[in-house]
Amino acid sequence: MLDIMRITIVGCGAIGSKLAKAADDMDEVKRIYLVDIRKDIADKVAASLKKAIVVDSIEDELYHCDLVIEASSQAAARDVAPRVVSRGVDMMIMSVGSLVDDDYRQALFQKAKEHEAKIFIPTGALCGVDGLRSAAGDEILSVTLTTTKGPKSLSGVQYLIDKGIEVDKLTEKTVVFEGPAREAVKFFPRNINVAATVSLMGIGFDRTKVKIILDPEATSNSHELSVEGNFGTFVSHTYNVPSPDNPKTSYLAVLSAISALKRICRNEWIGI
Ligand SMILES: NC(=O)c1ccc[n+]([C@@H]2O[C@H](COP(=O)([O-])OP(=O)(O)OC[C@H]3O[C@@H](n4cnc5c(N)ncnc54)[C@H](O)[C@@H]3O)[C@@H](O)[C@H]2O)c1
Repeated sequence: MLDIMRITIVGCGAIGSKLAKAADDMDEVKRIYLVDIRKDIADKVAASLKKAIVVDSIEDELYHCDLVIEASSQAAARDVAPRVVSRGVDMMIMSVGSLVDDDYRQALFQKAKEHEAKIFIPTGALCGVDGLRSAAGDEILSVTLTTTKGPKSLSGVQYLIDKGIEVDKLTEKTVVFEGPAREAVKFFPRNINVAATVSLMGIGFDRTKVKIILDPEATSNSHELSVEGNFGTFVSHTYNVPSPDNPKTSYLAVLSAISALKRICRNEWIGI
């Protein structure tokens, strides 16, 4: 990676805004281009930074940009990522659920290889994926992710509305989803990116089991990752706090994106 980088951030919400601030403070980052469908949001973020300017789309900056970071939505990720890697520019993806479609993902990774672009996927709001990554070097027998969320985190989820589950009305802990990660990612597109990350690192979207529990008392998200394989077994617990700007996004996901950017810029791979 270059000593001095120009980065583009697509999506200036809970993750993008904090990432932009962190990048603004990094000597290795020379220029930050901000893109958001809500230009007012991007303008507000840019106004508080030294190195940021708002641009209408990723396109104009691609010829001199080193890394594009998507922190917006699955749809935006699917739109942006192929265009970025086709130009040989590195890509960091936060909306990891966008990679659930096997044909799309394989084509994207193939395109990245052809154009010598790297694809970075931060660990997000989950601990234990380092162990999963190593364990995947041999046979893994099972991976189970149990996620507990509060009503705010699951409000507006169409799958729950269709099932007649009123998240604000439940009075006791309730399992609202149990099934393969592929379905979890589809039904909870903004809520369960960690299931996609775990699937990609371990045994795939069909064999990774996901359980989502709605806890009416919970004000934050917690994850239990349980892995069994030839290496042995491990169980990791992560008790997150929500990010200040978006209760659906855990603060650790924001920190994970910042940490990934620092590692990329500094070319330091401790704990790789
Ligand atoms: N990998 C993980 O562990 C993890 C954790 C939390 C969130 N996420 C995902 O990261 C993404 C961002 O999360 P967030 O909490 O910052 O969301 P947010 O809602 O706070 O911010 C998203 C921003 O993107 C903008 N946006 C939406 N569509 C866009 C488009 N097509 N082009 C440009 N901008 C667009 C919105 O206007 C908004 O400002 C979401 O998809 C979320 O599901 C991933």
